[in-house]
Amino acid sequence: MRWPVPGSLRLRFLLAVSLWVMLGIAAIWFSAVGIFSKHVELSYHEELEVHVRELGGLTEIAADGAIVLTRPLSDPRYAEPLSGFYWQVTADGRAPLRSRSMTRGSLDESIAHSPEILHRLDNGPTGPAITYGYTRKWPAGEDIHFVIATDQSELDRLIGSFTRDLTTWLAALAALLLATGYAIISFGLKPLDRLSQAFARLRHGEAEELEGQYPTEIAPLAADLNAYIHQNEAMLARARVQAGNLAHSLRTPLAIITDEAERLEERGECRQAGAVMLDQARTMEQQIEYQLARARSSAGRKPSGQGVVLPALALPILRAMERLHPGKTFTLQLDTDRDKALPLDPVDYAEVLSILLDNAGKWARRDVVLTVASESDGAVTVTIRDDGPGIPEGLIDRAFEVGARFDPAVTGSGLGLAIARDLCDAMGIELVLENGTSGLVATLFSPAGNFE
Ligand SMILES: Nc1ncnc2c1ncn2[C@@H]1O[C@H](COP(=O)(O)OP(=O)(O)O)[C@@H](O)[C@H]1O
Ligand SMILES: [Mg+2]
Repeated sequence: MRWPVPGSLRLRFLLAVSLWVMLGIAAIWFSAVGIFSKHVELSYHEELEVHVRELGGLTEIAADGAIVLTRPLSDPRYAEPLSGFYWQVTADGRAPLRSRSMTRGSLDESIAHSPEILHRLDNGPTGPAITYGYTRKWPAGEDIHFVIATDQSELDRLIGSFTRDLTTWLAALAALLLATGYAIISFGLKPLDRLSQAFARLRHGEAEELEGQYPTEIAPLAADLNAYIHQNEAMLARARVQAGNLAHSLRTPLAIITDEAERLEERGECRQAGAVMLDQARTMEQQIEYQLARARSSAGRKPSGQGVVLPALALPILRAMERLHPGKTFTLQLDTDRDKALPLDPVDYAEVLSILLDNAGKWARRDVVLTVASESDGAVTVTIRDDGPGIPEGLIDRAFEVGARFDPAVTGSGLGLAIARDLCDAMGIELVLENGTSGLVATLFSPAGNFE
């Protein structure tokens, strides 16, 4: 299960679905509570009206002049003390008759002042009560007042318990809808997830193109991207071959020119011109060597599946350097407890390490140390230190130029650092040279690798 991150489509959909569910549930809640309350109130009032009519029908005046009921009211709650259901019958000059539930207080008979049944909210024995009443004339001519009251809290309780049940049920429904909503979003976004995985495989060189089947909406995108990738690859390969061919084709003519220039230099009157030509020819030669090396290198190629695993990659290079520079020691120092895998091309990375270690080996007095350190965010820093003379301050930046060499006593082409910088740029690595306390320090900063 993937959690939505800020700025993601998933989060957008989730927010929209949540809002939609909340709005729907709130609308259902409000309308259900409203409709239910209306109906309950209506049937409650109807019931009270029936009860007050029943009360009127059961009332009689006994022989001794007392008000009596021929039988109790059908609803037993009127007999239960302080149940919230009360009735009362009153007539001028006679003792009032009250329900058994009314162990205290009395009802206001003023609502019962006409033959029509009227109702209002009054104060009853146990709080505010819905009161119904009417008056009947007895044959003797006197008015008898019938009043029935039911606590408002009874009605509130009914509606309250319904509202609680409804709220619980709707909350469960909301949770269910949100969960299914999230499942639907995940289902809908699956192809995009697959697309981004396919991209990751492509970036890491595990695939040649975007693999997999996609829905009609994004299939054209994947197809176009694949076409673009293939076109780009073909163009790059062609360009590399052309650069190589061009450099090759220039080699022979240049060799002839160099030859001629050397001959000219030997002749007294043309010495000056010969020297200039020779110098220019050497510069051209360096450029050609450099371009050939670049064309041979894999810059621009996708890293292969495994990537760069340090220190496994560095060990054989260190052993080779020991043979190449007898008398110098090459040591590996690990500031990390496990192998570091970087999503880079191992061939290019090995080339950079070789160039830097070879330089260090050439100028070191004795020791060359290669350090691998990993930062907390996954970035890896590789440092190559030697105990040689270093490069004069101010010339360090120029060391990366094609053909720049500051120590004529040591052989070389002046191309190493230029190629190393190029390869690093292509791989997204920062290469920094600086003079340390005892010699030159070359540092390779690789940003956090994203092997998903
Ligand atoms: N580790 C080092 N210590 C001292 N000088 C160095 C070191 N690495 C490079 N340099 C200087 O930088 C120059 C350029 O290096 P590079 O491009 O590798 O060419 P090359 O090694 O063929 O001379 C070298 O000629 C040298 O003067
Ligand atoms: Mg070199």
